[in-house]
Amino acid sequence: MENPVLNAIRERRSTVRFKSAPVDEEKIQKILEAGRWAPSYLNSQPWEFLILTDPEVKRQLCQIGVKITLFSEGIETASAVIVIVVDPRKDPSHYIEDGSAATQNMALAAHSLGLATYWIGILDLQKRGKTTEEAVKELLGIPKVFRVIALLPIGVPAYEEHSDRKKMSDIVHRDKYGEV
Ligand SMILES: Cc1cc2nc3c(=O)[nH]c(=O)nc-3n(C[C@H](O)[C@H](O)[C@H](O)COP(=O)(O)O)c2cc1C
Repeated sequence: MENPVLNAIRERRSTVRFKSAPVDEEKIQKILEAGRWAPSYLNSQPWEFLILTDPEVKRQLCQIGVKITLFSEGIETASAVIVIVVDPRKDPSHYIEDGSAATQNMALAAHSLGLATYWIGILDLQKRGKTTEEAVKELLGIPKVFRVIALLPIGVPAYEEHSDRKKMSDIVHRDKYGEV
């Protein structure tokens, strides 16, 4: 029997162009629910999610996105964009991993519902001048102390994307990495 979880993991693809079809609110809620059920260090759940559907807000976010991704137009054309933010005070040790787990849960959930996403990484660990992350926080009124883990545009995919992975034998080590 097919395993739906393994299939979703294997078949999800980052997709940067979307049809203009709207996405049901019910599906958005299911995607957010998948984020809510992600694992986190000591179950700290440091995340909060912003859901953007206002065309003007998406347009402005797209203008900021130009600086960090070649595919910024997907931010504007997606039916919705989920912004994954975390409060590092709730989990100073592992807030990046927590937010990343929530992001991936949502990407997989979207795929399982026939939707596509692509993860736009925005977290800037080497803060130089005004970062894209700060510009996003300003635009969306996100508290300064928060970190923005990712932007996740969501929509009906306009095409089929392909991807590849390294060979298993290149990445898996059994019992010991090797001689040092
Ligand atoms: C932390 C992170 C940051 C990413 N940032 C971007 C990005 O800025 N722009 C983009 O188009 N894709 C981005 N991606 C998506 C990757 O390019 C994509 O996952 C990778 O090429 C593999 O393709 P697949 O997701 O279709 O398997 C990001 C993915 C991760 C995990």
